Amino acid sequence: MASESREPWVSSPADDDAQVQRPLTLDTSVPHTARMYDYLLGGKDNFAVDRAAVEKVLAVMPDMPQSIRLSRLFLRRAVRYAAWRGITQFLDVGTGIPTAGNVHEVAQEMSPEARVAYVDHDPIVLTHARALLSDEEQGRVTIVLCDLREPETILANPEVREIIDFDRPVALMLVAVLHFIRDDEDPYGLVKRLCDGLAPGSMLMLTHATMDPDPETGHKASTGWANASSTMNMRTFDEIQRFFDGLEFVEPGLTGRWNPDDEPMEILEQSIKNIWGYGAVAVKPLTGPGEGAGR
Ligand SMILES: C[S@@+](CC[C@H](N)C(=O)[O-])C[C@H]1O[C@@H](n2cnc3c(N)ncnc32)[C@H](O)[C@@H]1O
Repeated sequence: MASESREPWVSSPADDDAQVQRPLTLDTSVPHTARMYDYLLGGKDNFAVDRAAVEKVLAVMPDMPQSIRLSRLFLRRAVRYAAWRGITQFLDVGTGIPTAGNVHEVAQEMSPEARVAYVDHDPIVLTHARALLSDEEQGRVTIVLCDLREPETILANPEVREIIDFDRPVALMLVAVLHFIRDDEDPYGLVKRLCDGLAPGSMLMLTHATMDPDPETGHKASTGWANASSTMNMRTFDEIQRFFDGLEFVEPGLTGRWNPDDEPMEILEQSIKNIWGYGAVAVKPLTGPGEGAGR
């Protein structure tokens, strides 16, 4: 989408089948979080309104792109880690406009039989992701239009259930999406309801924006999303840690630099002063509620 003259998104029969839940519509007068992120990652699927919103954020938080890069590194490392632990099913909610190193590419590199269900509430994501899926990937990868605020709808979606067997462990990915859920939308309850639908041995992997390095800057930067499709709700380390209640952290736990493989850290990471986000991977234990695990 290089120019502003692009045709509006039009529903296709395939989209009609996808149990559409209050989808966003293509609105080029409102910044969309998926398109803002695309711009931050150097993509072309964004409009002037998205770029203006991002520039407003960068004016107060110029080092934010480094933290986004760390979140993308987390995503790839976490997928590799889960595949190494034998997980072959990935449920990626808030997947974003496809970019290099998508979940199915990373997972299938490690484990060719890996299956991935992508979920996003923005139709632009659906359109781009469907266009990129090859015939070969059909049956192993799907993309559906659903909202994180309706977890049961995601778990019950027929296309998701065609790809994911919820009786076996799943890697639930909520990477850079929970900060778009307001406190009054019960983010902790939403994550718990999703995790409740997963088999023991499943993993929760998430990253989340924080203003811990400098709350004043964080507050100012958050206003960049004030008129966007979703608002920015940065949370503290303790608040983000709460998403993992009842789960068992994989080392090193919640951190801005998640690197369980001891891969050499890149120069970029070494020179980062402020990390505006945290990430972690945790496992749903074999014990059930009331037996010590709590979830
Ligand atoms: C910042 S991007 C992250 C993309 C990808 N997970 C990554 O880390 O590269 C956030 C994505 O979450 C999606 N999103 C925001 N709120 C959502 C919701 N309530 N339900 C589903 N997707 C949502 C946006 O449309 C966007 O594509």
